[in-house]
Amino acid sequence: MRTIGETIKKRRKLLSFTQQELAGKLNISAQAVSKWENGAALPDLVLMPRLAQVLETTVDSLLGYHGAPVSKYDERYQGEEFYWGLNPNQLCYELMKLKPPTRPYRVLEIGCGEGKDAVFLARCGYRVKAFDESQAGIDKALLLAEKNGVQVDFFKANALDYQIEGEYDIIFSSGFFDYLPDNIKREFTSMLKGHTVVGGLNVINAFVDKPFMKKKEGQQRTPWKSGELFMCYHEWLFHKCEQIIFDCNSGGIPHQHCMDVLIAEKVLE
Ligand SMILES: C[S@@+](CC[C@H](N)C(=O)[O-])C[C@H]1O[C@@H](n2cnc3c(N)ncnc32)[C@H](O)[C@@H]1O
Repeated sequence: MRTIGETIKKRRKLLSFTQQELAGKLNISAQAVSKWENGAALPDLVLMPRLAQVLETTVDSLLGYHGAPVSKYDERYQGEEFYWGLNPNQLCYELMKLKPPTRPYRVLEIGCGEGKDAVFLARCGYRVKAFDESQAGIDKALLLAEKNGVQVDFFKANALDYQIEGEYDIIFSSGFFDYLPDNIKREFTSMLKGHTVVGGLNVINAFVDKPFMKKKEGQQRTPWKSGELFMCYHEWLFHKCEQIIFDCNSGGIPHQHCMDVLIAEKVLE
């Protein structure tokens, strides 16, 4: 998990403030900011709300608190059945056409659930690392990999805390992106872009909000604005940039979802 100092530094840089500028907004010295960022001191508690405001985030995020530790998916993934089935997402086939596994390309999957897509890609010859915050999902994913005789580096992690290391040829995420709080969507996406090699792909879908569609009761997700995901990748080459509306009957109540689907290639550093 990131320290408070690391989070402050990351947000400050994202907003293009110098230490001096951040200090000025808080009426403190630049040395104090430097000490926080180096881990030599912690911000005063009474300063936290103003600090969060200036850094356009929340006190919870600065402290690394992202809600209850148990995933609601744990319950869904407990049973024998695979909650999302075992058929790979159509996007797996589409990415294979663009980057066939002629060598073991490195794939990172975020929010892998019970691992159906990660296992499929590993079976096809990709070198896959995949994580989810649900331990029940990861346990099932490990069994699925074993059953299929493939190696996948599955692990439990919260995407909001996990620090990606190194670079990937493909970053894949289906059904997770609308769990990103609004205030970190942009930051998270640019972090993924930074960990993708030139020539690499980001393959992502995200639920989006449409005013003409009925909202599902108790919706916990924070859908993206229509087209917002595409905007985050405006300088990449789009292989797919599509909006789909589909029927869903989860929870026994017929409703519709709208989703932005993107396959983008990093063409320049
Ligand atoms: C709609 S499911 C999709 C699962 C899988 N990608 C699939 O398509 O079968 C969303 C997944 O995102 C995971 N998730 C939600 N928030 C997360 C977070 N902060 N960190 C990691 N995983 C998260 C959930 O546990 C869940 O497995």
